[in-house]
Amino acid sequence: MQLHLSSWPEIEVYLTSSKAILIPIGSTEQHGPNGLLGTDALCPEIIARRAGDESGILVGPTFNVGQAQHHMAFPGTITLRPSTMIAAMLDWAQSLSRHGFERIYWLNGHGGNIATINAAFSEIYHGVTFGTEGSNGPPLRCVLRNWWELAGVMDLCKQLFPVGEGSHATPSEVSVTYFGYPEAIKRVAMTPKIAPTGPIYDAEDYRRRFPDGRIGSDPSQATPEAGEKIVTAAVKGVIAEFQQFAAS
Ligand code: NI
Repeated sequence: MQLHLSSWPEIEVYLTSSKAILIPIGSTEQHGPNGLLGTDALCPEIIARRAGDESGILVGPTFNVGQAQHHMAFPGTITLRPSTMIAAMLDWAQSLSRHGFERIYWLNGHGGNIATINAAFSEIYHGVTFGTEGSNGPPLRCVLRNWWELAGVMDLCKQLFPVGEGSHATPSEVSVTYFGYPEAIKRVAMTPKIAPTGPIYDAEDYRRRFPDGRIGSDPSQATPEAGEKIVTAAVKGVIAEFQQFAAS
């Protein structure tokens, strides 16, 4: 079930049986020569929508721009300041809370978002305590889960891509998007075959260290078939975890 394809009476009925919602959250940033700019938002969205179709979990709109300052030397990247992202997440959470949602499960697709998402949770909880209704406002719990940490997913990725998984523009994440959007598959030769690794600082330094955007990866191995396997494992993991969180 997807919020943006539902009517308000349908959401009103949903709220009589569940107070939980899943929000995919990611980033719009370069993902190397053959990866889609939307990769980090598309991966959690593809997984979440399938989980929603299979289990009736309510999936909200994707929060699809995040912390991508270090990718800004590559065209197409869009970033939010941390303070903007925290403020936007607070408004999303308070809007949902206003309607009676008490559990928000954020399925994340971008490692660079983690610190800011946790800061936003702190802001959200302060909003409950310091809200206009005084202390002890309506209960609201948030949880963050990175899709690659769902049960079974990391082991499967290692098995599918024992060499060249790397840490940015990975064959696993590119495979997930190729499964979701086969019409967007790009065939590009990688030079070098496996990208360099190293620390991340700011945007200009990043492009000097990692000239085509990849870190440690060979995403030319990506296939929609591998993506389907990863999505199937992730969907199973997220349904189990979401249902446990919703009942907590
Ligand atoms: Ni990524």
